Amino acid sequence: MKAKISVNKNSIVCEIDRRIYGSFIEHLGRAVYNGIYEPTHNTADENGFRHDVLELINELNVPIVRYPGGNFVSGYNWEDGIGPKSERPRKLELAWLSVEANEIGIDEFQKWARLAGTDVMMAVNLGTRGPDEARNLIEYCNSDTNTYYANLRRKNGFDKPFGFKLWCLGNEMDGDWQICHKTAEEYGRVATETAKILKWVDPSIELVACGSSDPNMSTYGEWERTVLDHTYDYVDYLSLHCYYGNKAQNTADFLARAEDMDRFIKKTAQICDEIKAKKNSDKTINLSFDEWNVWYRTKDEEKTAERWQIAPHLLEEKYNFEDALLVGCMLMTLQNNCDRVKVACLAQLVNVIAPIMTENGGKAWRQTIFYPYMYASLFGNGKALKAVAEVDSYKSKEGWDIPYLYTSVIENEDKVVIFAVNRSLDKNIELDISLDGYDGYSLSEHIELYSDSLETVNDKENERIKPQNCDIKNDIILKKHSWNMLIFKK
Ligand code: AHR
Repeated sequence: MKAKISVNKNSIVCEIDRRIYGSFIEHLGRAVYNGIYEPTHNTADENGFRHDVLELINELNVPIVRYPGGNFVSGYNWEDGIGPKSERPRKLELAWLSVEANEIGIDEFQKWARLAGTDVMMAVNLGTRGPDEARNLIEYCNSDTNTYYANLRRKNGFDKPFGFKLWCLGNEMDGDWQICHKTAEEYGRVATETAKILKWVDPSIELVACGSSDPNMSTYGEWERTVLDHTYDYVDYLSLHCYYGNKAQNTADFLARAEDMDRFIKKTAQICDEIKAKKNSDKTINLSFDEWNVWYRTKDEEKTAERWQIAPHLLEEKYNFEDALLVGCMLMTLQNNCDRVKVACLAQLVNVIAPIMTENGGKAWRQTIFYPYMYASLFGNGKALKAVAEVDSYKSKEGWDIPYLYTSVIENEDKVVIFAVNRSLDKNIELDISLDGYDGYSLSEHIELYSDSLETVNDKENERIKPQNCDIKNDIILKKHSWNMLIFKK
Protein backbone atom coordinates (compact mmCIF):
# COMPACT_ATOMS: atom_id res chain seq x y z
CA MET A 1 0.00 0.00 0.00
CA LYS A 2 1.23 3.52 -0.74
CA ALA A 3 0.80 6.49 1.59
CA LYS A 4 1.91 10.08 1.80
CA ILE A 5 2.44 12.41 4.74
CA SER A 6 2.49 16.15 3.97
CA VAL A 7 3.42 18.87 6.41
CA ASN A 8 4.02 22.57 6.11
CA LYS A 9 6.41 24.37 8.45
CA ASN A 10 3.83 27.11 9.02
CA SER A 11 0.98 24.80 9.82
CA ILE A 12 1.51 24.49 13.56
CA VAL A 13 -0.84 22.91 16.11
CA CYS A 14 0.97 24.25 19.15
CA GLU A 15 4.17 23.97 21.19
CA ILE A 16 4.02 20.72 23.13
CA ASP A 17 3.86 21.00 26.91
CA ARG A 18 6.31 18.32 28.07
CA ARG A 19 3.94 17.41 30.88
CA ILE A 20 1.93 15.36 28.37
CA TYR A 21 4.61 12.71 28.92
CA GLY A 22 3.77 12.43 32.61
CA SER A 23 3.00 9.24 34.48
CA PHE A 24 1.37 8.09 37.67
CA ILE A 25 2.25 6.20 40.83
CA GLU A 26 -0.54 5.18 43.17
CA HIS A 27 -0.46 3.34 46.47
CA LEU A 28 -1.83 0.28 44.72
CA GLY A 29 -0.51 -3.25 44.51
CA ARG A 30 3.27 -3.24 44.03
CA ALA A 31 3.64 0.23 42.52
CA VAL A 32 5.18 1.78 45.63
CA TYR A 33 6.06 -1.17 47.85
CA ASN A 34 8.33 -3.60 45.94
CA GLY A 35 8.09 -1.26 42.96
CA ILE A 36 9.92 2.00 43.53
CA TYR A 37 10.65 1.08 47.17
CA GLU A 38 12.13 -2.16 48.44
CA PRO A 39 14.65 -1.56 51.25
CA THR A 40 16.03 -5.13 51.11
CA HIS A 41 16.73 -5.05 47.38
CA ASN A 42 20.40 -5.15 46.39
CA THR A 43 20.07 -1.89 44.44
CA ALA A 44 18.22 -0.05 47.24
CA ASP A 45 19.75 3.13 48.66
CA GLU A 46 19.60 4.33 52.28
CA ASN A 47 15.99 5.43 51.68
CA GLY A 48 14.97 2.03 50.33
CA PHE A 49 14.54 3.25 46.74
CA ARG A 50 15.39 0.71 44.07
CA HIS A 51 18.03 2.14 41.75
CA ASP A 52 17.48 -0.43 39.03
CA VAL A 53 13.93 0.96 38.75
CA LEU A 54 15.16 4.54 38.90
CA GLU A 55 17.55 3.84 36.02
CA LEU A 56 14.69 2.65 33.84
CA ILE A 57 12.58 5.64 34.83
CA ASN A 58 15.48 7.92 33.92
CA GLU A 59 15.50 6.40 30.43
CA LEU A 60 11.89 7.55 30.07
CA ASN A 61 12.65 11.15 31.10
CA VAL A 62 9.30 11.48 32.89
CA PRO A 63 8.48 15.16 33.50
CA ILE A 64 5.77 14.74 36.16
CA VAL A 65 4.26 11.93 38.25
CA ARG A 66 0.75 12.01 39.67
CA TYR A 67 0.58 10.86 43.32
CA PRO A 68 -0.76 9.26 45.58
CA GLY A 69 -3.89 8.19 43.64
CA GLY A 70 -6.11 7.29 41.91
CA ASN A 71 -8.89 5.70 43.85
CA PHE A 72 -6.50 5.41 46.80
CA VAL A 73 -6.48 9.16 47.41
CA SER A 74 -10.20 9.24 48.19
CA GLY A 75 -9.61 7.39 51.46
CA TYR A 76 -6.12 8.65 52.28
CA ASN A 77 -5.10 10.50 55.43
CA TRP A 78 -1.86 12.15 54.36
CA GLU A 79 -0.83 12.68 58.00
CA ASP A 80 -0.51 8.89 58.39
CA GLY A 81 2.49 8.97 56.05
CA ILE A 82 4.65 11.58 57.81
CA GLY A 83 6.83 11.56 60.96
CA PRO A 84 8.79 8.67 62.47
CA LYS A 85 8.12 5.49 60.48
CA SER A 86 7.79 3.37 63.62
CA GLU A 87 4.83 5.47 64.74
CA ARG A 88 2.93 5.41 61.47
CA PRO A 89 -0.35 3.49 61.50
CA ARG A 90 -1.18 0.49 59.34
CA LYS A 91 -4.61 0.96 57.87
CA LEU A 92 -7.26 -0.82 55.87
CA GLU A 93 -7.16 0.59 52.37
CA LEU A 94 -10.66 0.50 50.91
CA ALA A 95 -10.04 1.37 47.26
CA TRP A 96 -8.03 -1.79 46.59
CA LEU A 97 -8.97 -3.81 49.71
CA SER A 98 -5.33 -3.91 50.81
CA VAL A 99 -3.35 -2.89 53.88
CA GLU A 100 -1.48 0.41 53.68
CA ALA A 101 1.73 0.27 55.71
CA ASN A 102 2.42 4.02 55.37
CA GLU A 103 6.17 3.44 55.12
CA ILE A 104 6.11 5.80 52.18
CA GLY A 105 4.29 9.11 52.39
CA ILE A 106 4.61 12.56 50.92
CA ASP A 107 8.05 13.21 52.48
CA GLU A 108 9.60 10.10 51.00
CA PHE A 109 7.80 10.44 47.69
CA GLN A 110 9.08 13.94 47.03
CA LYS A 111 12.59 12.70 47.85
CA TRP A 112 12.13 9.89 45.36
CA ALA A 113 10.76 12.30 42.74
CA ARG A 114 13.91 14.42 43.02
CA LEU A 115 16.03 11.32 42.43
CA ALA A 116 13.84 10.39 39.47
CA GLY A 117 14.21 13.92 38.07
CA THR A 118 10.47 14.43 37.93
CA ASP A 119 7.90 16.86 39.36
CA VAL A 120 5.00 15.75 41.53
CA MET A 121 1.37 16.25 40.52
CA MET A 122 -0.29 16.10 43.92
CA ALA A 123 -3.85 14.96 44.56
CA VAL A 124 -6.06 15.89 47.52
CA ASN A 125 -8.68 13.64 49.07
CA LEU A 126 -12.17 14.93 48.27
CA GLY A 127 -13.75 11.58 49.17
CA THR A 128 -13.60 10.92 52.90
CA ARG A 129 -12.08 14.35 53.49
CA GLY A 130 -12.31 17.86 52.15
CA PRO A 131 -11.13 21.49 52.18
CA ASP A 132 -9.77 21.44 55.73
CA GLU A 133 -7.30 18.60 55.18
CA ALA A 134 -6.42 19.98 51.75
CA ARG A 135 -5.44 23.37 53.20
CA ASN A 136 -3.29 21.68 55.87
CA LEU A 137 -1.65 19.54 53.22
CA ILE A 138 -0.74 22.44 50.97
CA GLU A 139 0.60 24.39 53.95
CA TYR A 140 2.76 21.36 54.79
CA CYS A 141 4.00 20.98 51.22
CA ASN A 142 4.30 24.51 49.89
CA SER A 143 4.38 27.06 52.73
CA ASP A 144 7.39 28.94 53.96
CA THR A 145 5.52 30.50 56.90
CA ASN A 146 6.16 30.11 60.63
CA THR A 147 2.93 28.15 61.09
CA TYR A 148 1.95 24.72 62.39
CA TYR A 149 2.04 22.54 59.25
CA ALA A 150 5.01 24.29 57.64
CA ASN A 151 6.84 23.84 60.94
CA LEU A 152 5.79 20.21 61.08
CA ARG A 153 7.48 19.69 57.70
CA ARG A 154 10.61 21.37 59.06
CA LYS A 155 10.48 19.15 62.14
CA ASN A 156 10.34 16.15 59.79
CA GLY A 157 13.58 17.27 58.19
CA PHE A 158 12.48 19.41 55.25
CA ASP A 159 13.37 23.02 55.73
CA LYS A 160 12.44 24.10 52.24
CA PRO A 161 8.88 23.73 50.91
CA PHE A 162 8.37 20.97 48.35
CA GLY A 163 6.80 23.48 45.97
CA PHE A 164 4.33 21.19 44.18
CA LYS A 165 2.87 23.27 41.36
CA LEU A 166 0.05 21.10 40.02
CA TRP A 167 -2.79 19.73 42.18
CA CYS A 168 -5.74 17.44 41.44
CA LEU A 169 -9.01 18.18 43.21
CA GLY A 170 -9.83 14.56 44.05
CA ASN A 171 -10.03 11.61 41.70
CA GLU A 172 -12.84 10.18 39.51
CA MET A 173 -15.53 11.59 41.73
CA ASP A 174 -18.16 10.72 39.08
CA GLY A 175 -17.63 6.97 39.56
CA ASP A 176 -19.78 5.02 42.04
CA TRP A 177 -16.71 2.88 42.83
CA GLN A 178 -15.02 5.93 44.28
CA ILE A 179 -14.83 6.18 48.07
CA CYS A 180 -17.47 8.84 48.84
CA HIS A 181 -18.49 9.28 45.20
CA LYS A 182 -20.38 12.53 44.60
CA THR A 183 -22.96 13.96 42.27
CA ALA A 184 -21.69 16.66 39.92
CA GLU A 185 -23.39 19.31 42.07
CA GLU A 186 -21.83 17.99 45.27
CA TYR A 187 -18.41 17.69 43.69
CA GLY A 188 -18.64 21.06 41.91
CA ARG A 189 -19.32 22.82 45.22
CA VAL A 190 -16.60 21.12 47.26
CA ALA A 191 -14.06 21.39 44.42
CA THR A 192 -14.72 25.13 44.15
CA GLU A 193 -14.33 25.79 47.85
CA THR A 194 -11.21 23.60 48.03
CA ALA A 195 -9.75 25.35 44.98
CA LYS A 196 -10.22 28.76 46.59
CA ILE A 197 -8.51 27.65 49.78
CA LEU A 198 -5.60 25.98 47.98
CA LYS A 199 -4.94 29.08 45.89
CA TRP A 200 -5.19 31.35 48.93
CA VAL A 201 -2.39 29.36 50.53
CA ASP A 202 -0.32 29.21 47.34
CA PRO A 203 -1.48 31.42 44.44
CA SER A 204 1.24 30.02 42.17
CA ILE A 205 -0.31 26.55 41.85
CA GLU A 206 -2.48 25.18 39.05
CA LEU A 207 -5.55 23.05 39.70
CA VAL A 208 -7.22 20.16 37.91
CA ALA A 209 -10.93 19.51 38.40
CA CYS A 210 -12.26 15.98 37.87
CA GLY A 211 -13.91 15.39 34.53
CA SER A 212 -15.39 12.01 33.63
CA SER A 213 -13.53 8.80 34.40
CA ASP A 214 -14.45 7.40 30.99
CA PRO A 215 -16.16 8.76 27.86
CA ASN A 216 -18.80 6.03 28.23
CA MET A 217 -19.98 7.17 31.65
CA SER A 218 -23.72 7.83 31.46
CA THR A 219 -23.08 11.22 33.06
CA TYR A 220 -20.39 12.26 30.55
CA GLY A 221 -21.09 15.77 29.28
CA GLU A 222 -23.54 16.77 32.00
CA TRP A 223 -20.89 16.04 34.63
CA GLU A 224 -18.40 18.34 32.87
CA ARG A 225 -20.98 21.12 32.39
CA THR A 226 -22.11 21.11 36.01
CA VAL A 227 -18.60 20.83 37.45
CA LEU A 228 -17.34 23.66 35.24
CA ASP A 229 -20.37 25.81 36.06
CA HIS A 230 -19.13 25.76 39.62
CA THR A 231 -15.37 25.64 39.24
CA TYR A 232 -14.65 27.58 36.03
CA ASP A 233 -13.09 30.66 37.64
CA TYR A 234 -10.99 28.70 40.12
CA VAL A 235 -9.39 25.85 38.19
CA ASP A 236 -7.01 25.58 35.25
CA TYR A 237 -7.62 22.12 33.81
CA LEU A 238 -10.35 19.54 33.52
CA SER A 239 -9.30 15.89 33.73
CA LEU A 240 -10.04 13.05 31.31
CA HIS A 241 -9.41 9.36 31.99
CA CYS A 242 -9.63 6.48 29.60
CA TYR A 243 -8.41 2.90 29.35
CA TYR A 244 -8.85 0.72 26.27
CA GLY A 245 -8.86 -3.02 25.84
CA ASN A 246 -9.17 -5.73 23.24
CA LYS A 247 -11.48 -8.26 24.89
CA ALA A 248 -13.18 -8.80 21.53
CA GLN A 249 -9.81 -9.75 20.02
CA ASN A 250 -10.32 -7.47 17.08
CA THR A 251 -6.97 -5.78 16.50
CA ALA A 252 -8.11 -3.42 13.76
CA ASP A 253 -10.83 -2.08 16.01
CA PHE A 254 -8.53 -1.98 19.03
CA LEU A 255 -6.04 0.17 17.13
CA ALA A 256 -8.89 2.50 16.17
CA ARG A 257 -9.26 3.48 19.83
CA ALA A 258 -6.73 6.25 19.15
CA GLU A 259 -9.54 7.97 17.21
CA ASP A 260 -11.90 7.37 20.12
CA MET A 261 -9.44 9.14 22.40
CA ASP A 262 -9.17 11.96 19.86
CA ARG A 263 -12.95 12.44 19.84
CA PHE A 264 -13.09 12.35 23.63
CA ILE A 265 -10.50 15.15 23.79
CA LYS A 266 -12.19 17.28 21.15
CA LYS A 267 -15.67 16.87 22.64
CA THR A 268 -14.43 17.70 26.12
CA ALA A 269 -12.58 20.79 24.87
CA GLN A 270 -15.83 21.84 23.18
CA ILE A 271 -17.72 21.51 26.45
CA CYS A 272 -15.10 23.65 28.21
CA ASP A 273 -15.55 26.31 25.53
CA GLU A 274 -19.34 26.09 25.78
CA ILE A 275 -19.08 27.04 29.47
CA LYS A 276 -16.51 29.70 28.62
CA ALA A 277 -19.03 31.29 26.24
CA LYS A 278 -21.88 30.88 28.74
CA LYS A 279 -19.85 32.67 31.38
CA ASN A 280 -18.54 35.22 28.92
CA SER A 281 -15.09 34.38 30.28
CA ASP A 282 -11.71 35.26 28.78
CA LYS A 283 -10.16 32.24 30.41
CA THR A 284 -9.68 28.93 28.60
CA ILE A 285 -9.81 25.69 30.53
CA ASN A 286 -7.28 23.22 29.16
CA LEU A 287 -7.20 19.48 29.59
CA SER A 288 -5.28 17.11 31.82
CA PHE A 289 -5.54 13.55 30.45
CA ASP A 290 -4.23 12.26 33.73
CA GLU A 291 -4.99 8.56 33.32
CA TRP A 292 -4.66 6.74 30.02
CA ASN A 293 -3.39 3.36 28.90
CA VAL A 294 -4.37 -0.09 27.72
CA TRP A 295 -5.99 -1.97 30.61
CA TYR A 296 -8.47 -4.82 30.43
CA ARG A 297 -6.93 -8.16 31.40
CA THR A 298 -6.57 -7.30 35.08
CA LYS A 299 -9.65 -5.10 35.59
CA ASP A 300 -11.60 -5.68 38.82
CA GLU A 301 -8.93 -8.08 40.08
CA GLU A 302 -9.11 -6.60 43.57
CA LYS A 303 -12.63 -8.00 43.91
CA THR A 304 -11.43 -11.61 43.80
CA ALA A 305 -7.89 -11.25 45.21
CA GLU A 306 -7.07 -12.13 48.80
CA ARG A 307 -8.01 -9.11 50.89
CA TRP A 308 -5.93 -7.04 53.31
CA GLN A 309 -2.48 -7.81 51.94
CA ILE A 310 0.43 -5.38 51.86
CA ALA A 311 1.61 -4.87 48.28
CA PRO A 312 -0.45 -7.61 46.63
CA HIS A 313 0.08 -8.49 42.96
CA LEU A 314 -2.70 -6.35 41.49
CA LEU A 315 -3.26 -4.97 37.97
CA GLU A 316 0.02 -6.44 36.74
CA GLU A 317 -1.04 -6.30 33.12
CA LYS A 318 1.36 -8.12 30.83
CA TYR A 319 1.56 -5.98 27.70
CA ASN A 320 1.95 -7.52 24.27
CA PHE A 321 3.11 -5.96 21.01
CA GLU A 322 -0.41 -5.00 19.93
CA ASP A 323 -0.72 -2.94 23.14
CA ALA A 324 2.52 -1.14 22.30
CA LEU A 325 1.06 -0.16 18.92
CA LEU A 326 -2.01 1.38 20.52
CA VAL A 327 0.02 3.13 23.22
CA GLY A 328 2.17 4.56 20.41
CA CYS A 329 -0.98 5.79 18.63
CA MET A 330 -2.45 7.26 21.82
CA LEU A 331 0.74 9.26 22.36
CA MET A 332 0.30 10.66 18.86
CA THR A 333 -3.29 11.60 19.72
CA LEU A 334 -2.00 13.56 22.71
CA GLN A 335 0.66 15.26 20.58
CA ASN A 336 -1.84 16.15 17.85
CA ASN A 337 -4.13 17.73 20.48
CA CYS A 338 -1.41 19.60 22.31
CA ASP A 339 -3.23 22.89 21.81
CA ARG A 340 -5.68 21.71 24.53
CA VAL A 341 -3.98 18.81 26.32
CA LYS A 342 -1.28 20.28 28.54
CA VAL A 343 -0.84 17.41 30.98
CA ALA A 344 -1.22 13.66 30.53
CA CYS A 345 -0.24 10.70 32.67
CA LEU A 346 0.43 7.23 31.40
CA ALA A 347 -1.24 5.15 34.12
CA GLN A 348 0.82 3.90 35.69
CA LEU A 349 4.65 3.72 35.92
CA VAL A 350 5.78 0.64 37.86
CA ASN A 351 4.15 -2.82 38.17
CA VAL A 352 0.55 -1.57 38.09
CA ILE A 353 -0.56 -1.33 34.42
CA ALA A 354 2.95 -0.14 33.80
CA PRO A 355 5.82 0.10 31.31
CA ILE A 356 8.23 -1.08 34.04
CA MET A 357 7.91 -4.37 35.94
CA THR A 358 9.86 -5.67 38.89
CA GLU A 359 10.25 -8.91 40.70
CA ASN A 360 10.51 -8.77 44.49
CA GLY A 361 14.19 -9.07 45.32
CA GLY A 362 15.00 -9.55 41.64
CA LYS A 363 15.09 -7.91 38.24
CA ALA A 364 13.37 -4.89 36.76
CA TRP A 365 12.47 -4.88 33.06
CA ARG A 366 10.80 -2.97 30.25
CA GLN A 367 7.38 -4.01 29.01
CA THR A 368 6.43 -3.66 25.33
CA ILE A 369 4.80 -0.26 25.91
CA PHE A 370 8.05 1.17 27.32
CA TYR A 371 9.61 2.16 24.01
CA PRO A 372 6.80 4.10 22.30
CA TYR A 373 6.52 6.08 25.54
CA MET A 374 10.27 6.61 25.79
CA TYR A 375 10.66 7.82 22.21
CA ALA A 376 7.69 10.19 22.48
CA SER A 377 9.11 11.66 25.67
CA LEU A 378 12.65 11.98 24.30
CA PHE A 379 11.92 13.12 20.74
CA GLY A 380 8.34 14.44 20.76
CA ASN A 381 9.26 17.90 22.00
CA GLY A 382 8.86 21.19 20.22
CA LYS A 383 6.11 22.26 17.84
CA ALA A 384 3.47 19.77 16.76
CA LEU A 385 2.66 20.25 13.09
CA LYS A 386 -0.58 19.48 11.30
CA ALA A 387 0.11 16.38 9.24
CA VAL A 388 -2.05 15.34 6.32
CA ALA A 389 -1.91 11.62 5.62
CA GLU A 390 -3.15 10.29 2.28
CA VAL A 391 -3.72 6.58 2.74
CA ASP A 392 -6.40 3.89 2.47
CA SER A 393 -8.70 3.38 5.38
CA TYR A 394 -10.88 0.75 7.03
CA LYS A 395 -14.07 0.94 9.10
CA SER A 396 -14.18 0.83 12.87
CA LYS A 397 -17.08 -0.80 14.71
CA GLU A 398 -18.67 2.67 14.91
CA GLY A 399 -18.43 3.01 11.12
CA TRP A 400 -15.66 5.62 11.34
CA ASP A 401 -13.04 5.78 8.59
CA ILE A 402 -9.76 4.70 10.14
CA PRO A 403 -6.67 5.48 8.05
CA TYR A 404 -4.18 2.62 8.07
CA LEU A 405 -1.43 5.11 8.78
CA TYR A 406 -1.60 6.98 12.09
CA THR A 407 0.91 9.77 12.50
CA SER A 408 2.15 12.86 14.31
CA VAL A 409 4.86 15.26 13.18
CA ILE A 410 6.96 17.44 15.43
CA GLU A 411 9.53 20.09 14.70
CA ASN A 412 12.10 19.47 17.39
CA GLU A 413 14.89 22.08 17.20
CA ASP A 414 16.92 21.14 14.12
CA LYS A 415 14.93 17.97 13.45
CA VAL A 416 11.56 16.99 12.06
CA VAL A 417 10.37 13.91 13.93
CA ILE A 418 7.61 11.74 12.49
CA PHE A 419 5.89 9.08 14.57
CA ALA A 420 3.94 6.60 12.47
CA VAL A 421 2.04 3.39 13.08
CA ASN A 422 1.03 1.19 10.18
CA ARG A 423 -2.27 -0.32 11.37
CA SER A 424 -2.61 -2.69 8.46
CA LEU A 425 -2.38 -6.28 9.64
CA ASP A 426 -1.16 -7.63 6.31
CA LYS A 427 0.32 -4.87 4.14
CA ASN A 428 3.51 -2.84 4.32
CA ILE A 429 3.26 0.87 3.55
CA GLU A 430 5.55 2.54 1.02
CA LEU A 431 5.74 6.03 2.46
CA ASP A 432 6.25 9.27 0.61
CA ILE A 433 6.91 12.37 2.71
CA SER A 434 6.57 16.00 1.74
CA LEU A 435 8.13 18.51 4.14
CA ASP A 436 7.16 21.95 2.91
CA GLY A 437 9.49 24.63 4.29
CA TYR A 438 12.21 22.18 5.26
CA ASP A 439 14.47 22.45 2.22
CA GLY A 440 17.51 20.23 2.37
CA TYR A 441 16.09 17.95 5.08
CA SER A 442 16.54 14.24 4.58
CA LEU A 443 15.91 11.09 6.56
CA SER A 444 18.71 10.50 9.06
CA GLU A 445 17.21 7.86 11.34
CA HIS A 446 14.44 5.29 11.14
CA ILE A 447 13.66 3.40 14.34
CA GLU A 448 11.16 0.58 14.25
CA LEU A 449 9.29 -1.61 16.69
CA TYR A 450 8.09 -4.76 15.03
CA SER A 451 7.20 -8.34 15.75
CA ASP A 452 5.72 -11.01 13.49
CA SER A 453 3.26 -11.78 16.23
CA LEU A 454 1.02 -9.23 17.90
CA GLU A 455 1.02 -11.44 20.98
CA THR A 456 4.75 -11.05 21.68
CA VAL A 457 5.56 -9.96 25.24
CA ASN A 458 8.70 -8.96 27.12
CA ASP A 459 9.62 -10.64 30.37
CA LYS A 460 12.46 -10.55 32.84
CA GLU A 461 14.53 -12.97 30.77
CA ASN A 462 13.87 -11.65 27.33
CA GLU A 463 13.23 -8.19 25.93
CA ARG A 464 11.68 -9.30 22.66
CA ILE A 465 10.11 -5.98 21.73
CA LYS A 466 12.91 -3.51 21.42
CA PRO A 467 13.85 -0.82 18.90
CA GLN A 468 15.65 -1.68 15.68
CA ASN A 469 17.56 0.80 13.54
CA CYS A 470 16.44 0.48 9.92
CA ASP A 471 18.83 1.10 7.04
CA ILE A 472 18.27 4.45 5.38
CA LYS A 473 17.31 3.83 1.76
CA ASN A 474 15.42 5.83 -0.84
CA ASP A 475 12.20 3.99 -0.09
CA ILE A 476 10.66 4.31 3.35
CA ILE A 477 8.85 1.11 4.23
CA LEU A 478 6.60 0.89 7.27
CA LYS A 479 6.10 -2.80 7.91
CA LYS A 480 2.62 -4.17 8.47
CA HIS A 481 1.55 -3.58 12.11
CA SER A 482 4.67 -1.64 13.06
CA TRP A 483 5.53 1.46 15.10
CA ASN A 484 8.10 3.82 13.59
CA MET A 485 10.01 7.00 14.32
CA LEU A 486 11.58 8.85 11.42
CA ILE A 487 14.01 11.71 11.99
CA PHE A 488 14.72 14.23 9.26
CA LYS A 489 17.66 16.58 9.46
CA LYS A 490 19.38 19.10 7.25
O1 AHR B 1 -5.08 3.50 37.48
C1 AHR B 1 -5.87 2.58 38.15
C2 AHR B 1 -7.19 3.18 38.62
O2 AHR B 1 -7.97 3.49 37.50
C3 AHR B 1 -7.11 4.47 39.38
O3 AHR B 1 -6.90 4.29 40.74
C4 AHR B 1 -8.46 5.08 39.15
O4 AHR B 1 -8.43 6.47 39.20
C5 AHR B 1 -8.88 4.52 37.81
O5 AHR B 1 -10.16 4.02 37.83
